Amino acid sequence: MHILVTGGAGYIGSHTCLELLNEGYEVTVVDNLSNSSQESLERVKKLSGKEIKFYKVDILDKAELEKVFKENKFDAVIHFAGLKAVAESVEKPILYYQNNLSGTLVLLELMKKYDSKNIIFSSSATVYGFPKDEDLPLKEDAPRSLVEVTNPYGKSKFIIEEFINDIYASDNSWNAVILRYFNPVGAHKSGEIGEDPNGIPNNLAPYVAQVAVGKLPYIKVTGNDYPTPDGTGVRDYIHVVDLAHGHVKALKKIKEKSGLSVYNLGTGRPYSVLEVIAAFSKAVGRQIPYKFVARRPGDLAASYADAGKAKEELGWVANRDIDEMCADSWRWQSQNPNGFKS
Ligand code: NAD
Ligand code: UFG
Repeated sequence: MHILVTGGAGYIGSHTCLELLNEGYEVTVVDNLSNSSQESLERVKKLSGKEIKFYKVDILDKAELEKVFKENKFDAVIHFAGLKAVAESVEKPILYYQNNLSGTLVLLELMKKYDSKNIIFSSSATVYGFPKDEDLPLKEDAPRSLVEVTNPYGKSKFIIEEFINDIYASDNSWNAVILRYFNPVGAHKSGEIGEDPNGIPNNLAPYVAQVAVGKLPYIKVTGNDYPTPDGTGVRDYIHVVDLAHGHVKALKKIKEKSGLSVYNLGTGRPYSVLEVIAAFSKAVGRQIPYKFVARRPGDLAASYADAGKAKEELGWVANRDIDEMCADSWRWQSQNPNGFKS
């Protein structure tokens, strides 16, 4: 099977490309490299011993993207391409809506035109908005409301899910798997590929990694007065390689002409910020410094998945624990202190 991976040079995309190649899929990547480096794909090729066809194309550029569809016949598309920084999306809503929504519309239009109507979409736990305690762990049918999603990034995910629902309702020869990721962390065991954020990281795991390697002085723990066991936020951290395997399972599902389905990808086991710092400190072999600071605006106390549906219907479970996530993340960070620019 020939798979088009949009945003395949990025963090989750590169790990997924590697697992696809290892499983024998043919992989073509489209990426504008706005938040990634082509070096990630060079390393994926080296790790797999296989080729990847790469097009440096912006998915908003319909003419260029159409050339990719003309030159190839894709059995399925895994759609990672998008901007993902929550705070930046609040400052630059037009950029986020244009890139994520318009870009996805261009892609969907071409998929229809070239009769390539199988899609796996990278959604997010952010679509659950502010879950109530009784909704935890979150099932796929937990209440969701666009007005509860507080930022343009999250809204773009919610709206793209709606695009896909409406397209499927209009033409059920499409097959779509919407994957709602919880908190992807970690790196490939080799230490050759991993998360390489531009500038100061927004998310906890890359921030901790950069403090551990000495690029930042201490972790700012954003809030220790949440109604959680130790007062810090709790999340469902999932190893990026487990997440990548989830995409391989979703492709197998699509091959069975599965119609439209939605799955949470998480471990179901919540960890607090302090537990993450403790696990990372263990991986590094010394205490990583932190300080408590104010809550981030709009932050959640707790978010974690019920991943039972993915287990039952995809035969997928996340089996890498927090220690492995931290050890792998540390290997990547310590071997590549400047990411792919090293
Ligand atoms: P990433 O930024 O590393 O990867 C996204 C890739 O898309 C990058 O390589 C970027 O250059 C590319 N891209 C962006 N806009 C593009 C465009 N217009 N045309 C072509 N390429 C474009 O992010 P990631 O962490 O790998 O996330 C992948 C997907 O998963 C994103 O859609 C993201 O929103 C979603 N997601 C991520 C998380 C997370 O915490 N990492 C959580 C939930 C969902
Ligand atoms: N945190 C800190 N210090 C930091 C960064 C984060 O203490 O420097 C805390 C947060 O308060 C939260 C936890 O660490 O309790 C995790 O924060 P992240 O920013 O790593 O992750 P979020 O769950 O807040 O958000 C992430 C992505 C969103 C996505 C969401 C659900 O950033 O894009 O997961 O998938 F929508």
